[in-house]
Amino acid sequence: MHALSDGVWLGGLHGLAFGGDYNPEQWPEAVWAEDARLMKEAGVNLVSMGIFAWSKLEPLPGQYDLNWLERVIDLLWRHGVRVCLSNATASPPPWLARLYPDSLPVNAEGQRLATGSRQHYCPNHQGYREAAARLTEVLAESFAGHPAVVLWHLNNELGCHLNTCYCEICSGAFRDWLGRRYGTLGALNEAWGTTFWSGVYTDWCEVDLPRKGPAMANPSQLLDYKRFMSESLRGVLANERAVLRRVAPEAQTVHNAVSLYRPVNYSNWFEDLDFAAWDSYPDPAGGLSEVQWTALTHDAFRSFKHGQPFFLMEQVTTQANWRPYNVLKAPGQMETGSWQAVARGADAVMFFQWRASLYGAEKFHGAMVPHFGPGGRVYRVVAALGAALSQVPDVVGSRLESKVALLLNWENIWALDGPGKPVALDGFEIAREFYAPFWNRQVTVDVVHPDRPLGDYSLVVAPALYLLTEHQALALKRYVLNGGTLVCTYFSGVVNDCDHVVSGGYSGYLQDLLGLVVEEWEPLRPSSLAEIHRKGQEPGQGRRFMEVVHAQGCEVEATFTNGYAAGKPAITRHRYGRGQAYYVATQPDENFLQTFFDSIRTELSIAGPIKGDIGVEGTVRRHQDGRAFLFVVNHLAKQASVDFGTEGGIDVLSGRVCRDLQSVEGYGVRVLRRAGNVT
Ligand code: GAL
Repeated sequence: MHALSDGVWLGGLHGLAFGGDYNPEQWPEAVWAEDARLMKEAGVNLVSMGIFAWSKLEPLPGQYDLNWLERVIDLLWRHGVRVCLSNATASPPPWLARLYPDSLPVNAEGQRLATGSRQHYCPNHQGYREAAARLTEVLAESFAGHPAVVLWHLNNELGCHLNTCYCEICSGAFRDWLGRRYGTLGALNEAWGTTFWSGVYTDWCEVDLPRKGPAMANPSQLLDYKRFMSESLRGVLANERAVLRRVAPEAQTVHNAVSLYRPVNYSNWFEDLDFAAWDSYPDPAGGLSEVQWTALTHDAFRSFKHGQPFFLMEQVTTQANWRPYNVLKAPGQMETGSWQAVARGADAVMFFQWRASLYGAEKFHGAMVPHFGPGGRVYRVVAALGAALSQVPDVVGSRLESKVALLLNWENIWALDGPGKPVALDGFEIAREFYAPFWNRQVTVDVVHPDRPLGDYSLVVAPALYLLTEHQALALKRYVLNGGTLVCTYFSGVVNDCDHVVSGGYSGYLQDLLGLVVEEWEPLRPSSLAEIHRKGQEPGQGRRFMEVVHAQGCEVEATFTNGYAAGKPAITRHRYGRGQAYYVATQPDENFLQTFFDSIRTELSIAGPIKGDIGVEGTVRRHQDGRAFLFVVNHLAKQASVDFGTEGGIDVLSGRVCRDLQSVEGYGVRVLRRAGNVT
């Protein structure tokens, strides 16, 4: 259940959630009182608590101490702060490892990892899972009825540090998983192509995790191992979710994801939870590509829950402490990052963490109350952000609309990462490069799995879908037949879901839809770029990859003019049914790609709500009854040109009529409330 139209949601929370991780277990009670007072003053209305408190909650196996937690929750409740209570399973106490030495995970080198850090558990260990379930049960029985506890934070960034385990328990669990997936050893041998390099299995006991061997690993085995590990982590989550559902059926749940993180297939993780959430730590010195990454990730987490608003569960006020250089956010960057999340569909702006620790590995990580205390700049800007966010309570529950879908499939990313490719191709980076031409033009994009319905989108962009099932190819055909426009790129449709080549020319099941076949390919070094010519456009360059494409019914839109594929198509278009399918046989340079997509957008009448310099975001969030908000966020340090269109409005943040409809100052934000229809 999400928001009511007046901005009240989550057990009475009013407006956007604002707060952060709070670790009262690190502080004497005298500090709690100050915390509660400061939180109220800063506009904090929600804190995530207990995430790393297992040791304090269950000091000895089966002995629970919940009194302190109750006292602090009561205190917060009296100050109007609600709690997103964690079930505290992310970091087991050392006694768990003493009880179950084999609960500690094993790395690829065969070393058993130690306690003293966090996430030191094998995700398939029953003892860990049972202890986690018991703790969840005890916490739920004690706190699910507390009026302050409005949300449950299950575990924490599952797989963030521990996403592979090579212990014997995992080895057995992998075999069981394969048994369920393939049924027979014969089917497994076929799926893994084990006749290659004489690898045919004759007994299940020979089947193992993809451990280190002398040469390249079997890519099909590796792909299944990644599926298995991601599902094992999801199993941890499901185990905890099930307990909560049994003990407290009304409890609302969330899990904070790492980001678009390779080891974890988040596209199906949130089906069973009430909210999607992720933790955003862009490098403040990373320039616009980092901002773009963040935008793409927000769009993905919004899309994983079919457009439902999500949580920005963690970000930092100033600087992280885990990079070689932990550059400070420039004044204004914390605010633009926060509004960017809201603009792209977040209903919660949260930080790691409330108060900076005095000890431990994260003592130099930024916080809402830093070591300097509440008298300095950081707390001041935090409180100002809290006040600003509270100006738009009625944003809660509103949604974005998108005519463009970017297809993203983790299994494809994993398959691309497998060994023995013509050149290393990073599926996430390629996705970002094909997302950029839309972000640059303030056009909202949904990030969707190829198995999801596509019919509502005018344009579907499918970058490097190397792994594509016959079923997915059929869905793409149907989409185009019914009038959709599809843009596919190089290295698509090459293998099936076992990572076996679809023979008869690359692009496999897509050949008929694209009206072409790919015969050969050549990786392009930075010193040997391809030249591309397209009529009516400045010549461009192709990077990374060049394919030898034979047109079989498609029109040639652009041609390679040098190199191995000189004279052959670089971009094609095939009219198919009521729609059309483009193919891009290289990675065009940014300008070329921008012009290409601009022309497609013009043809399809897809435009953003505003126009602006690259670095300015513009989105619209709308309620079903038509009430809408226009967000304009300038990520540049300098003033940017922006064309708001003809319609002005009241800027909610300043309370003034927004008169300047042509520019926004460096790191400036505008939120205009609109009654009618805004496109
Ligand atoms: C996140 C994690 C937090 C904290 C933070 C520091 O990955 O969930 O607990 O460690 O990073 O940046």
